Amino acid sequence: MIGGSLTNILVVDDERYICSIIQEALASEKYCIKALSDPAQALEYIEQHPVDLVLTDLIMGEHSGIQVLETTLRHHGNAIVILMTAHPTLETAISVLTRGAYDFLVKPFRLELLKATVKRGLDHQRVLRENLQLKGQVEFLKVVGATGAEVHIKDILMMVARSCKKEMAAAAVGIIETDPASREPISRVHESDDESLSGEVLDDGTIENFTYTKSTQPVIQGEETGKGAEALTRIFISQPLFARRRLHGVINILIRSRFDQLTPGQLDVLSILANSAAASLANHRLYQDLRTSYLEAIRALANAIEARDACTAGHTDRVSAMAELVARHMGWDEHRISDLVMGCSLHDIGKIGVPDSILNKPGKLTDHERKQMEAHPEVGLMIIDGIDLFRPAIPYITAHHESYDGSGYPNGLKGDAIPIEGRLLAVVDTFEAIMSNRPYRKGADLRQAVSELVKYKGIQFDPEIVDIFIDVIRQGKIDFQMLYNRDEDLSQLDAIAVSEKEPA
Ligand SMILES: [Fe+2]
Repeated sequence: MIGGSLTNILVVDDERYICSIIQEALASEKYCIKALSDPAQALEYIEQHPVDLVLTDLIMGEHSGIQVLETTLRHHGNAIVILMTAHPTLETAISVLTRGAYDFLVKPFRLELLKATVKRGLDHQRVLRENLQLKGQVEFLKVVGATGAEVHIKDILMMVARSCKKEMAAAAVGIIETDPASREPISRVHESDDESLSGEVLDDGTIENFTYTKSTQPVIQGEETGKGAEALTRIFISQPLFARRRLHGVINILIRSRFDQLTPGQLDVLSILANSAAASLANHRLYQDLRTSYLEAIRALANAIEARDACTAGHTDRVSAMAELVARHMGWDEHRISDLVMGCSLHDIGKIGVPDSILNKPGKLTDHERKQMEAHPEVGLMIIDGIDLFRPAIPYITAHHESYDGSGYPNGLKGDAIPIEGRLLAVVDTFEAIMSNRPYRKGADLRQAVSELVKYKGIQFDPEIVDIFIDVIRQGKIDFQMLYNRDEDLSQLDAIAVSEKEPA
C-alpha cells in the first residue's frame, strides 16, 4: 500500500497456537499483523517486507530468536524486537538486550503485559524516529532560516534535495523552480545516486500535475519491477511547492525499494521540507523583486547625477565593468561579484548632495568647495544607510577615496585597514577618471593612465591591486574600443615596466 503508514508487526514462534493467541490479542489494535511459525520463512519475510516490530520466540529448533533479531535490525534500522522465552536466565537477558532487542517477555505472560510492552516499544520507536528526523532538519532549517540575502537560493534547494534524498531513502531527487506567473521552469537542482536518473526527476512535464490545482498533496505513483528476490517497487513522488497559493516549483523523488510502501513519517518529512523550500523560494522571489525595484530607483538617481556632471557620463558603467574583471581575476565568487556591481553603481551616489557649481567647476576648488566634494562618501552612506539590501555597497561608497598611505578621506584609513572593496575601486575609479575625456581636456592614453597608477603604488593605491589591474589589461581583458571608442596599444605597458626598472 503506497503512501500508507500502518504499523507492521511480525510474530515468529514455532508453536502455532502462540502465534494465534498473540495475533488475536493484538487484533483489536490498528496493526497489520503477520504471524509465521516457520523461522526460515520469517527470515525471508523480514528481508523482503517492511517491519516495524517483531515478537519472536528465542528457541525454535535449529533456528534462534537471535537470528531473527539480527536480521531484523540489519534490514530495518529502528525496528523494535521483543524476545519471548520460557527459560529466562540472566545471561540470556543481557545477551539479547546488548544485541539490540528492546525487551523480552517470559512465557507464559499475561496478554495485558504483551499489549503494554508492544505499545511501549512502538512509543519508543516513534520518539526515536522523530528525534532522528528532527536532528536531520535542524541544520537545514538553520540555513533556510537565514535571509535570502545571505544564502544563495540554489544552495538552499540543493540542501532540500539532499535532505529529501536522505530522509526518503531515495535514489534520486530533483527540484524544478518555476516562475509563479508563467509556470515556466527557472532553475533546476538534483541529487542522485546515478546520473542517468536526473532526467526523470527533472522532467518539466511533472509541473503540469499542478497547473490546474491548488492541492498541496503530492502525486504518488508506484509500479512493481522484477520478480522474486529481484522484485522492487518503484515509487515516484511529485510534491508541489506552493507558497501563498502560488506554485513555486516541484520536488520529484524516485525511490526504489524492496517494500511497497513508504515508511511511517516519510510523507511528514516531505511535507516539512516542501513547506520550507516553498517558503524559501517565495521569500527569495520577493527579495529579488524588492532588490530590483530598489536598484532601479537608485540607478535612476545615479544616472541623474551623471546627467548633471558632463565629466562623468558613462563613468559608473565603465568602472563597474573594469572592477568586475579585476575581481574575477582575483577569484571572487558570483555573490561577491553581484555585490561589487551594485557597489560600483552606487559608489558616487553621495554626489547628489554636491551643488552643480562645484561638481562642474573646471578649475581648482576652494577649501570650502573641496570639503563639500569630499563629503560625498559620507552623504552616500547616509542615503543607503538602513536599507539592508544595499549593505554590501557600503565599503565601496565609504572607502573608495581612502589612500593606502592613510592620507585619504573620509576616515584616513591605512593599508589593509581599508576594505578591499575600497582599495579595488580606488584603482579602477582613478584609472577611469584619467582615461575619460573631459570638456576641458582630452582623456589620457593607456600609458599615461597606467603610469599614474604605478607612480602612486603604495601611496594612494594598494600595490598588489595595481599589479593585478595591469595584469588584467596586459591580458587584453579590457575592451578599450567598447569602453572608450578607441584602440589602445598594449605594448605601451612594456615601456612602463622598463622605465620602472630604470634608476631614478
Ligand atoms: Fe567618488
